[in-house]
This record gives sequence, C-alpha cells and structure tokens, in this order.
Amino acid sequence: MSETFSADIPLNERKEIESVYHCLIGDDLTSREAIIERFSQNSHQYEKVLGGVNYTGPVQTARSAAEWYPSNREDVYILDVAAGTGQCAEKLNSHGFRKIDALEPSAQMLELAKRKGVYGRCFNVMLGDNTLDIRTDTYDAVTISGLSLMVMKQMPRNAFEELIRIVKPGGYIINTSFYKLFPEDGDAVAAVYRRNVKALECEGKWKQVQLRRFKGYLFGDDGGVAVFKVL
Ligand SMILES: C[S@@+](CC[C@H](N)C(=O)[O-])C[C@H]1O[C@@H](n2cnc3c(N)ncnc32)[C@H](O)[C@@H]1O
Repeated sequence: MSETFSADIPLNERKEIESVYHCLIGDDLTSREAIIERFSQNSHQYEKVLGGVNYTGPVQTARSAAEWYPSNREDVYILDVAAGTGQCAEKLNSHGFRKIDALEPSAQMLELAKRKGVYGRCFNVMLGDNTLDIRTDTYDAVTISGLSLMVMKQMPRNAFEELIRIVKPGGYIINTSFYKLFPEDGDAVAAVYRRNVKALECEGKWKQVQLRRFKGYLFGDDGGVAVFKVL
C-alpha cells in the first residue's frame, strides 16, 4: 500500500485534509449534482487537499497520453473531460501537448483552470445524459483524469457514445481512475460502467487497447489507466 498522506502535510492538518477528501469523494448514495457542488465549494483548497493525499491522476494520464502519441504532440487536439483546476492540462503541456480544451461542470473549478492559460475552449457542462455542443470528429483524443468515481461508476452509456462521437476514428480516450473501477472482480456498483464499456466494444464503437495498473493513485489506493481506441 502506498502512503496515504504526502510527507509535506503536518500531522495536525491530516484530519482536516482527510475530511475534505472524503467529502469530495462522496459515496454510492451521493448524487451527481451534490458531487459537483462539493467541488465548487472546495475549489479554493482542491489542489492542497488532493496533493495532501498523494493524488497522481494528472501525471499518470499525461504519461499514457505521451505513450500513445509519441510524436507531433503539438498537433494533437485534446478534450480534457472533468478538467477540474487544470492539473491534467499542465502535465499534458509538459509533454508537449498544446491544443487542449476543457469540459468541467463546476464553474468555480473551471475558473481556476482558465487562469492557468492552458486551455483553448472551455465547456462548463457535465458529461452525462446530455448531448455535447461539439461537432462530430472534432478531437484526436479525450483525457479523463479522476472524474469522480461515484459518477463514473454509473455513467450512462450515452456519455461514452458522446465521447466516441466527438473523437475522430483512430483517436484515443484515456480514462484514469481507481483501479477497482476496471476489473470484473472490482467494485460491485461499477459493474454498470464495465457493462457499458463492453457493450460499446461489442457494437464495434471502441476497443480497449490498454489497462495499466499503477501504485499510489490516491490516498494509498492503486489506480488504473484504461485506453480506448475509437473505431
Ligand atoms: C478529482 S477532480 C479531477 C480534476 C482534474 N481532472 C484533476 O485530475 O485534477 C474530479 C472532477 O470531476 C468533475 N466532475 C464531476 N462530475 C462530472 C461529470 N458528470 N462530468 C464531468 N466532470 C465531472 C468535478 O467537478 C471535478 O472537477
């Protein structure tokens, strides 16, 4: 098991960090709207709290993007879904990716992301049952770094169909989360996610080309990066 807290966080601050972390994570009964509201209310301390519990989603997502796009990264057009405060775009940037848009439902989180100057277009909407106001075959890739697990576990199939629609055939959708989202013997509620992923594979819409497990995703738990090729 990896460290739950960053060594930088003094002992007397850990309880508070842990309590905000659990609030942001929610549980299986927390609604999608409540999760977004919690991120909005804690946007000012999001990076401190997630850094405090050793969050590596942005680093791992950008690392996978760099692996799947080994060259001409400045031309790869990416939509960063659940952009938060822009940490994933910053890491993508450090690998040479330059054309990145953001999709983020919390206006407060998105406002902080915009200040970093790492995004082009910014869509203040959620991924869910809604149709995205984005043209078909716009992007080369989608990155999703740490979209709230409770939301991802029960994401409607239409949400993935929308991502597939806006990514060009041959492009990649890179999804980083807790490892327990992905395997058949993983989280029980996440069976909805796994069913949707498989159904879209059976329909020939995308194909999972990699599942990379890694240590130390968040609060000591393992993470996974699932990479899908749009067909
Ligand atoms: C743990 S943060 C990750 C932010 C950023 N990607 C990062 O890695 O730092 C989770 C983000 O998911 C966003 N989110 C929650 N529900 C969402 C949904 N249905 N569609 C898109 N983003 C969502 C939250 O507003 C929050 O900004």
